[in-house]
Amino acid sequence: MQLAEHIAQIRAEFQQDCAALKLADQAVEELRIKYLGKKGRITTLFATLAELPATEKPLAGKLLNELKRDVESTINQLKEQLLARKSDEEFFDYTLPGISPKIGHFHPVTQTINHAINIFREMGFDVRFGPEVETDYYNFGALNFPPDHPARDMQDTFFITEKILLRTHTSPIQIRTMLNEKPPIRILAPGRVYRNEAINPRSYCTFHQIEGLYVDREVSFSELKTTLVVFAKRFFGTEAQIRFRPSFFPFTEPSAELDVTCIICGGTGCRVCKQSGWLEILGCGMVDPNVLQEVGIDPEIYSGYAFGMGLDRIALLKYGITDIRLLFDGDIRFLEQF
Ligand code: PHE
Repeated sequence: MQLAEHIAQIRAEFQQDCAALKLADQAVEELRIKYLGKKGRITTLFATLAELPATEKPLAGKLLNELKRDVESTINQLKEQLLARKSDEEFFDYTLPGISPKIGHFHPVTQTINHAINIFREMGFDVRFGPEVETDYYNFGALNFPPDHPARDMQDTFFITEKILLRTHTSPIQIRTMLNEKPPIRILAPGRVYRNEAINPRSYCTFHQIEGLYVDREVSFSELKTTLVVFAKRFFGTEAQIRFRPSFFPFTEPSAELDVTCIICGGTGCRVCKQSGWLEILGCGMVDPNVLQEVGIDPEIYSGYAFGMGLDRIALLKYGITDIRLLFDGDIRFLEQF
């Protein structure tokens, strides 16, 4: 029978089309139109049904209806597959852990400064800040550096003009505080300082100091010593020993330098402490009466002590960093480690 063959042929063609089909919305819709659309292969075949002799109609109609049903169900399956694939792509699992943002932290030098500040704060010290661009007066003159005194050269100053410079130490904050406040004064002055030194793994043109100042009636050297012993034990550990060596600063009299047992070898001698067992960490002394006079505090009534230390070298030792320049590069790969 001619029509039956035709139907079988369309069925075979449809199967070929399905096998070659690329699963996509448009391709499936085109397939549907080709077979079931208004002018589709199957739809047009239904029109020829009317022309058949009555004896052949029932069988041909049955075959054609079967084909139509099969094609419809295959196309529906294809559409479902498409839908399932889409929801797979769009699926978002809200229970997955989030991507947490990177949280910053304090620079190793800032951590060291904060550690020191916390210890002194418990002993009653407040914090004061001052400008990094200073005048000759606050950095030297008021601190009892006579004009043309060699100590001005000692500090490798960066001058901006003859009278304006980058502070070489945090001691100008002492002067600013004593000019603005009345004793008792008990302050800490942390900050960045500048010196025109050769840049190498051990020294840099800028570093950080923390200054301490206590001015009151009857402040004594033994109080200074006690304060620094407490600090050293809290900061470096209870095993830490300290020793004072006589020294000179224009703004303190008497002056001393403080050494602490080497935190690398514990005092037995190593490369870092040059086999001495000691590390030099700060300068200190009793505030020179000339300085008190200069800021209008009567040295007959008041006395005071001051100390100042560099923190970068301590941070290097504490964290085992071998090149000071790393502290100033701002390289996140380095800083992340602390
Ligand atoms: N300002 C001194 C320096 O930078 C340190 C110091 C501070 C010494 C206070 C004594 C008293 O070397």
